[in-house]
Amino acid sequence: MTIDKEKIIVMLSAVALLIASGLFYSYAVADANASDTIKEYKPSVSSQEYEKRYKEFYGNFTEQMAEEGNPADLTLDDGRDLFSTVAGSKGKSCASCHGKDGKKLKGAATSYPKYDASLKGIKTLALQINMCRKNKMGAKPMKYESYDQLALDLFVKSLSNGMLINVSINGPARPFYEKGKAFYYKRMGQLNFSCAICHVKYAGHKARANLISNNRHHADHWPSYRLKWAKTGSLQRRFRGCTKNMRAKPLPYQSDLYRDMELYMTYISNGLPIKVPGFRM
Ligand code: HEC
Ligand code: HEC
Repeated sequence: MTIDKEKIIVMLSAVALLIASGLFYSYAVADANASDTIKEYKPSVSSQEYEKRYKEFYGNFTEQMAEEGNPADLTLDDGRDLFSTVAGSKGKSCASCHGKDGKKLKGAATSYPKYDASLKGIKTLALQINMCRKNKMGAKPMKYESYDQLALDLFVKSLSNGMLINVSINGPARPFYEKGKAFYYKRMGQLNFSCAICHVKYAGHKARANLISNNRHHADHWPSYRLKWAKTGSLQRRFRGCTKNMRAKPLPYQSDLYRDMELYMTYISNGLPIKVPGFRM
């Protein structure tokens, strides 16, 4: 198939248009007097209904492009090479402990993020990998969202492809889950939006040339390649992007609240198969 460039441009500008549009501003104004406590919304549509609308709206455009070749597949291959590359003062590679091509880590990603006692907080997969580099290899932690960090994270996650997400919010994880959820519902920024207003309350609604997604599937396909970035990126990069669109200040990668929110969002995706790398507009 040949890629229809015009279609891409139209869709990309649609994202910009949505953000710029006053459409949602009127929602925000209408809700501006609501109190700060969590007010849960009833999802406007079920995830099945959203999937149906998505197909009607975009066709199978992204699937087709991903089939043509997802550029993130090359990043994944680089991650596989990094896995067996020796680094740090102890002369080890990841493969020294976790087996050739990570065979002992199959399924490991399904339970992340999770509570970690040494952190007294939530440990994402990215954080676990950096802990291994530092503590087990004597190597420098990788900078979050750097190419190598994403590649390794993507490779380790791909070892769980097709396996069902199964994160726990029991016991000590619970308060962090609650914090992540509260953050998702918190109004912020000049527009006084919350994440939940769009991805729960108005999910499945058309806003000009855009369709807002239901959050059920938000955590099953990251890291993903995104056309808008022309790059592979993480779920937390997406958090930062949407935070900026809300005209609020994005938090640093792997900050406490983003890790808590990643737990909350991954819990919503429990029971879905991991599918990385994703491909998004
Ligand atoms: C010297 C051995 C060693 C090396 C080298 C090592 N790890 Fe680990 N890794 C461990 C041990 C032991 C654990 C179990 C948890 C702990 O003790 O921190 C672990 C845990 C993990 C987990 C979580 C597994 C689970 O089931 O929760 C992942 C993912 C992981 N390592 C990835 C990596 C990656 C990627 C690298 C290379 C950057 C690496 N490790 C290097 C020993 C190692
Ligand atoms: C003004 C509405 C709006 C708000 C508020 C908003 N988003 Fe989004 N978000 C979008 C749009 C539009 C997209 C791109 C299309 C889609 O997937 O919905 C998107 C995409 C996403 C995606 C990627 C979905 C996928 O399938 O890959 C994630 C994750 C996400 N947003 C998280 C958040 C988080 C976290 C917040 C709060 C910090 C937030 N969003 C706030 C509109 C919004």
